[in-house]
Amino acid sequence: MSDLEDRLAEVVGEQHVLTDPDLKAPYETDWTRRFSGVARCVVRPADTGQVAAVVAACAEAGVPITVQGGNTGLVGAGVPAGGEVLLSLGRLTSLEPVDTLEAQVTAGAGVTLERLQQHARPHGQDVGVDLAARSAATIGGLVATNAGGIRVVRYGSMREQLTGIEAVLADGTVVSRLVGLAKDNTGYDLTQLLAGSEGTLAVITKVRLRLVPLLPARAVALVAVGGVAEALDLLAAARAGLPSLAAAELFLAEGLDLVRGHGRLAAPFAEPYPAYVVVECAARTDPTDELLEVLGECEAVLDATVASDVTGVAKLWAYRETHTEAISAAGVPVKLDVSVPLRELAGLVAELPAAVAAVAPSARPIIFGHLGEGNLHVNVLDAQDRAEEVTDAVLRLVAGKRGSISSEHGVGRAKAHWLGLSRSPSEIAAMRRIKAALDPAGLLSPGVLLD
Ligand code: MLT
Ligand code: ZN
Repeated sequence: MSDLEDRLAEVVGEQHVLTDPDLKAPYETDWTRRFSGVARCVVRPADTGQVAAVVAACAEAGVPITVQGGNTGLVGAGVPAGGEVLLSLGRLTSLEPVDTLEAQVTAGAGVTLERLQQHARPHGQDVGVDLAARSAATIGGLVATNAGGIRVVRYGSMREQLTGIEAVLADGTVVSRLVGLAKDNTGYDLTQLLAGSEGTLAVITKVRLRLVPLLPARAVALVAVGGVAEALDLLAAARAGLPSLAAAELFLAEGLDLVRGHGRLAAPFAEPYPAYVVVECAARTDPTDELLEVLGECEAVLDATVASDVTGVAKLWAYRETHTEAISAAGVPVKLDVSVPLRELAGLVAELPAAVAAVAPSARPIIFGHLGEGNLHVNVLDAQDRAEEVTDAVLRLVAGKRGSISSEHGVGRAKAHWLGLSRSPSEIAAMRRIKAALDPAGLLSPGVLLD
């Protein structure tokens, strides 16, 4: 072990500094198998004090750090480029009691979303963000990437849940603002600055989150529609007529075929349709009637199946939520996550296949996502050898429609090269100045966000 590894072992204990290639391996590749890099070592601190000491030791040695939460990220931000100390926050699992008066909770960065949901729900509270990777995705990572998921249509993304943060700056200084005041206008909002900063400005060690009322009665409809334009008609009807609207998700015929083959799922309808929308309503009392009323009045609905029992709801959600694993089982996709204004969504879906085919003729685009935000997950199979060209073609198409090249997954290493398609030169210059002010030596997550 070198001087730095010895120093890190003094801080976290020898068993939490991994240098053996076999022990490091699970941290060095993302779960989609698209990003990997060799870490100098993996360090697993247990608390904020240890994180601060690790960061200070790395700063003193001039060694860069890559920060990793649950390693469920999709843009390579948590995977080393090569040679960094990989700082894994999975042991920061402290969880304070639910504050039912403020309707808030403070959680360590390494607490999984599922664990936090289980912690809040017995108190009649819930976390406003939910997503398919809930069992592994950690709260620190969700804040660092400003994760979205399936409830954004109702509660917003992770930054909207955030009322406070504790973080370690690049020199090892701890900044802590965890009181969670509902009103606090005392200058620059460091909490919000760190949300979505992807490990480039500081290491988030704890967060304080606003909770939402637990809504135990759920009704879910899987709705068949004629295409994306009709899906948007349904969205507009749901927004106007369903105060209980909790999710509105889109997938297409190709995606349904793939998840059915992967999970041996039965066909939801007697015949196939071009597009499908999952509409979920959540309330204190059964929202099925209001959901059925809106579906009955909406001309875009070609067929629908509705469930309100736990098993039925899970069965309908499986058609949407198993897209990612079904795609991953079919191959290593080129994975893009974009959003456009809703009025541009149908045009984007219509133009995408030709744009992809022009650079990768045998590629198979699978499109699904979060309808309410115009957020599409464009997963392109059989195109790994044309990844750069496919990415470029899709992101330019999106930018031409005033869209975002990363809607909810972040920029990471994967999209850093294309940031200029979504952000202006003056915005990027301002971001670089913020980065230089907080991390002058460029030691935190180098190559992520700003290349
Ligand atoms: C999802 O909405 O399922 C996720 O963002 C994952 C993905 O894009 O694969
Ligand atoms: Zn998503």
